[in-house]
Amino acid sequence: MNVYDSDRMSELLAPFGYEPTFVPDNADMVILNTCHIREKASEKLFSELGRLRVLKKRRASMGKRMIITVAGCVAQAAGEEIIRRIPQVDIVVGPQTYHRLPELIVRAERAVNGQILYTDFPVEPKFDHLPSARHVRGVSAFLTVQEGCDKFCTFCVVPYTRGAEYSRPVADLIIEAEGLVEKGVREIVLLGQNVNAYHGVFDDVQVSSLSKLIERLADIEGLARIRYTTSHPRDMDVALIEAHGKVPALMPSLHLPVQSGSDRILGKMNRGYSVDDYLRLVDRLRTSCPDIALSSDFIVGFPGETEVEFEATMTLVKQIGFAQAYSFKYSSRPGTPAASLGNHVDEAVKGERLLTLQALLSDQQHKFNDSMIGRRLEVLLEKPGRYPRQLVGRSPYLQPVHVVSKDDAVPPRIGELIKVEITGSCPNSLAGVLDTNVDGDGIEKENFV
Ligand code: 5AD
Ligand code: SF4
Repeated sequence: MNVYDSDRMSELLAPFGYEPTFVPDNADMVILNTCHIREKASEKLFSELGRLRVLKKRRASMGKRMIITVAGCVAQAAGEEIIRRIPQVDIVVGPQTYHRLPELIVRAERAVNGQILYTDFPVEPKFDHLPSARHVRGVSAFLTVQEGCDKFCTFCVVPYTRGAEYSRPVADLIIEAEGLVEKGVREIVLLGQNVNAYHGVFDDVQVSSLSKLIERLADIEGLARIRYTTSHPRDMDVALIEAHGKVPALMPSLHLPVQSGSDRILGKMNRGYSVDDYLRLVDRLRTSCPDIALSSDFIVGFPGETEVEFEATMTLVKQIGFAQAYSFKYSSRPGTPAASLGNHVDEAVKGERLLTLQALLSDQQHKFNDSMIGRRLEVLLEKPGRYPRQLVGRSPYLQPVHVVSKDDAVPPRIGELIKVEITGSCPNSLAGVLDTNVDGDGIEKENFV
C-alpha cells in the first residue's frame, strides 16, 4: 500500500512542477514514506533522516532548499517526536492526509524555520482529492479499495496509524479500474489492510461486498486478472470463497494470514478465530478452487508463547502446506495492548523459532514450485528479462516465471498472456519455454514448442 500511496503523491505533485528523481542529492524535496508495522521498519526512518540532514545542509550552502517530508505510518504514530528530534524535517503528514500535500508544501516554502505537523484524520475522504492514476508503470497495477482496520489485533499498529475501516464507493473504483485498463493494465491487485471486509456503496444505496466488486470488475473488457490482498480469515464469506471457483479472472492464489497455530495465542492476539476455524476455511476454499495457492503471515514469539505453542504453529503449517509465506519475530509496538503483556519471549528464542519456521516454509515453497515442472501455465508477461529473448511474467499462482522463446520464433510482447511449459524451478521463481499465445488470434504461433 505504501507503493500505491507513493505513486499517488507523485501524481499529486506533478502539476506543481515536481517529478520523481532517483538521486536525492539535488532534490528540491524528499518524501520518506514510512512503515511502522515492526520496529525494524520504523527505525530505518531515523537513519535515513541522518543522511538527508547532510544533503540538506550541502544544498543550503549553495543557497538552495531541500524540503524534507516524512509521510506514512511512522509520521502518523510518532509525528511529534520526529518534529522534536529532527529540526530539518519540514513537513510531517499522515497516510490519511497526504492529499493535502500541495497546500502543506506551499506553507513550508513560505515558512522560514517552521515545521508543519498534519496527522489528523480528516472528515473528507482522501480519495476524493487525489487525481486518478496517470502513470501506469506496468501491466499489473495496485488499486486501493479499502483502508484502515477495525480488528484491533493486540500486536498491531494499523488501526491506530491508518484509522478506522473505510471502503471506497464501487463507482469510483470502476472508473479508476477502467482508466488503468485503457492505459494497458491487464492485472489489478485490489488493496486494503483488511480487503475482504470491503463494503463500499453501490448505486448510492446498496452496500457491496468484495465478491460483488470483483464480479463487476471482471466484466471490464481487457482486464485479464484480479487479485486482492490482504484478507482476514474472519471476513472470508461464502460468496468470496465461491468467487474463486467461478470467476475466471480471479486468480487462484490467496494471502490469508493465520499468525499462529495455537488457540491460546490466537485468543491473546484477538484474531477472532481458532485453528479449527482456519482449517475448515482452507477446506472450503480448496473445495471451491482445488488448485488455490495459499500464502500466509506468521508471528513467532508473541508474549507468553511457549515451545509447545510454537510447535502447534509448525503442525498447522505441515497440515496446510503453503505456497509462500512471510514470517516475523514479534516486535513490541508502543501503544498496542500486547506491548504491555508480561512474559516477553527472549530475542534469542524468537530468533531460533523464526529459523525453524522459515526452514519449513521455504521447504514447502520449493516443493510447490517443483510441482509446476512439466505443467503448462498461463503467464502474464510483465517485463524484459536479463537475457536476450527472455521475458518475465507471473503464473496464476503469483510465481515469477522467466520465459524464453526459441531463436526462430516471433517473441511475445509484454502484456500478453501466454501458455508456458515450465521446465525448471528455483526457490523464488520458475523457468519456462514459450508455448502458445492464449489471448491472441487463436492461431497456434510459430514459436510453439
Ligand atoms: N510484530 C511482528 N509482526 C507483526 N505484524 C504486524 N504487527 C506485528 C508486530 N507487532 C505482521 C503480521 C501481519 C504482517 C503485515 O505483519 O504478521 O500480518
Ligand atoms: Fe493489523 Fe491485520 Fe489485525 Fe488489522 S487485521 S489489526 S491490519 S493484523
